[in-house]
Amino acid sequence: MEAIARLPDDFNPADEFPITRSWTFLNHAAVAPISRSAHQAVVEFADQAMHDAYLTGKWYTKIEEVRESAAALIGAKKSEIAFAKNTSEGIAFVAAGLEWQKGDEIVSTSVGYPSMVYPWMDVAQRFGVKHVELNESQGRFTAQQVLDALTPRTRMVALSHVEFASGFRHDLAQIGRHCRDRGILFCVDAIQSIGVVPVNVVEMNIDFLSADGHKWLLAPEGAAIFYCREELTSLLRPEMGWMNVINANDFGKRDFTLKPDARRFECGSHNVPGVLALGASIRLLQRISLPLVHQRVSTLTGYLRQRLAEKKYRVISSAQQGETSGIVAFESPHGPQAHASIVHELERQRIIIAERVGRLRASPHFYNNFADIDRLIDVLPS
Ligand SMILES: Cc1ncc(COP(=O)(O)O)c(C=O)c1O
Repeated sequence: MEAIARLPDDFNPADEFPITRSWTFLNHAAVAPISRSAHQAVVEFADQAMHDAYLTGKWYTKIEEVRESAAALIGAKKSEIAFAKNTSEGIAFVAAGLEWQKGDEIVSTSVGYPSMVYPWMDVAQRFGVKHVELNESQGRFTAQQVLDALTPRTRMVALSHVEFASGFRHDLAQIGRHCRDRGILFCVDAIQSIGVVPVNVVEMNIDFLSADGHKWLLAPEGAAIFYCREELTSLLRPEMGWMNVINANDFGKRDFTLKPDARRFECGSHNVPGVLALGASIRLLQRISLPLVHQRVSTLTGYLRQRLAEKKYRVISSAQQGETSGIVAFESPHGPQAHASIVHELERQRIIIAERVGRLRASPHFYNNFADIDRLIDVLPS
């Protein structure tokens, strides 16, 4: 068994994630427990909102600090970050904000989460755009497969960095480089990657990225990061409210000048507690160190794949270098029809995994350990 990287001495998993005292939680690819840091941020906000005078100014200063941390997390500039409701809204900013031409082509995959499918189906239906969907083979894609699908009419490649049902991690650096060279837009759903595998929008030549905080970022649902590359800010038409414009706080003014940066995509008041909690969890992950988080999760998922194979479960997730993530998808030797009852029995024994499109899916985070994996293996039926 590969040794697991040590957590910092001052980090106590049971304190920061009290869920570990009563559950073996291996479902971060669904909705993760929030960290104690995120919890404290929400409680602090609620206390202030209940007791103190109007504090919007103070909260909005903190929101700008979160914008800074979110930018640092993905190698972006602060001015390239907007807060959105969720991953889907960020994707919708792109789908609804671009001026599509009949005959444009979008390349994506046929196994995407619905929020990476319906927006392109909609655009295809409304504007006569061609939606090309690539099929996975044994839970994998190759970068070459994506590049082979590009034509002179390809306007955009839209991928989930990590596919939700297989855990396959696309080679964004290679795909992004080709897209940039050919003037093709590159839109990435990063909800299954940010906080667990490295993401850098500059190195990966990403143009648009969206990710909510409730999975690998260990924050509540409903506060997402949307990134728009600076040079493309004016390419997307934002949905309009009152906050998009430069003189947003001059309420009697009619000056329809959009903010020059990504804040133009924020049309109204923020989900303040959500964003503050997101900031607290990002700070926690940065304190632990993202390379350490990635290293620990890679060790745990590697161990899980090995133990599953020993138990004659078919592992679907790729084990190849660069293709792994926090997700291990697998199939029972008794077939997919056994999955629902397995998930149910595991839950009865206080172990949480998920079933997704005919597969079992386990997704440990950095604070899990080998004993959690062993417990799952022990309870899975032979
Ligand atoms: C790849 C992927 N994208 C998007 C979502 C949904 O994100 P949101 O609810 O933030 O729009 C999920 C949720 O499971 C997902 O796995």
